[in-house]
Amino acid sequence: MLSVEGCMPQYRIAWLPGDGVGREVMDATRLVLDAVRLDAVYQPGDIGWEFWRREGDAFPARTIDLLKRVDTALFGAVTSKPTAAAEADLVPELKGRGLSYRSPVVRMRQLFDLYVCLRPCKAYPGNPLNFREGLDLVVFRENTEDLYAGVEFWPVPAELSATLAKLAPAFAPFQSLLADAFAISCKINTRKGSARIARAAFEFAKTNGRKKVTIVHKANVVRASDGLFLEEARKVAADYPGILTDAANVDAICMWLLKNPASYDVLVAPNLYGDIISDLCAQMVGGLGFAASGNIGEKLAVFEPSHGSAPKHAGQNKVNPVATILAAKMMLDWLGEEAKGRAVEKAVAAVLREGRVRTYDMGGASTTLEMGEAVARALPSD
Ligand code: IPM
Ligand code: MG
Repeated sequence: MLSVEGCMPQYRIAWLPGDGVGREVMDATRLVLDAVRLDAVYQPGDIGWEFWRREGDAFPARTIDLLKRVDTALFGAVTSKPTAAAEADLVPELKGRGLSYRSPVVRMRQLFDLYVCLRPCKAYPGNPLNFREGLDLVVFRENTEDLYAGVEFWPVPAELSATLAKLAPAFAPFQSLLADAFAISCKINTRKGSARIARAAFEFAKTNGRKKVTIVHKANVVRASDGLFLEEARKVAADYPGILTDAANVDAICMWLLKNPASYDVLVAPNLYGDIISDLCAQMVGGLGFAASGNIGEKLAVFEPSHGSAPKHAGQNKVNPVATILAAKMMLDWLGEEAKGRAVEKAVAAVLREGRVRTYDMGGASTTLEMGEAVARALPSD
């Protein structure tokens, strides 16, 4: 495909709106990317509920192929529903075939080994939803393993029960239960996975002049998998004597974050705890409408808002697109277009500071697109 100048655009970007409000926030973000004049071609990809319903696959093979051919991707949101509700939505021809729904975003993270989930949470001045002013937290969430490994059993096969009864005395109370009367989800943490997310967090802290990294875990109870995570993270920490290292249980960190958020800086956590604390941190800076997320691997990175598809708001052009616009800013940084990334963030900050254009979450009546237009207008004109 040719750009206006007649030569190949510099970047190929997969454009994955998904469903629900995903489409609307992506449309608003596109206004900003166009205004910042990124030399890119945007290649649309199919992902989301519509494809689950019609094809039995929310993340079709053609979209996986697309992701193999692009430099990066921007992703909106997709709907997830529990097993029975997902089955009920399938077209009649696909019902009863034993198809099972798995979140496409989790699959994408694992398939492309996007092991860093980077979630900055910054309180922009003027945002009426800030829980505290001045917060600037960054969560590094391990993104491919832990309880998200997808190794789960329900009903539990007799063979597995027998093995566990042999190996784990603590399994005794479950041993005689019927296969369907209990369920097992494996929390799998590896040394490699734990070390590389810790390395990413400490490197980020070092490069960005951050003072402290807090390792989040529950190793006092979840001794094996969290014990390993903590051990690996501490080993990495030893390579960064200039950065203060702190470790805390995940329950305590939720309490401390709420009580004293200003004393935290960078946090690093296994997958599920990272999922949970990143929502908490997001709420402290205005909620999911402001929380952007980068899924970053060695070869590919996919950027997205942390929020879901919000079906109840879909089609109303009302949700806040700032999270997706900030995800686009992260994408620009990752591409090496830091000047454009800074410009986008400045424009977001200016719109929030001014407070004239506000979506419903901020108590305003501006639409999703109006917010995108306002940010696009606030970009420096050069
Ligand atoms: C997130 C979301 C996802 C997750 C869901 C939509 C599968 O909550 O990106 O934080 O659990 O990782
Ligand atoms: Mg989440």
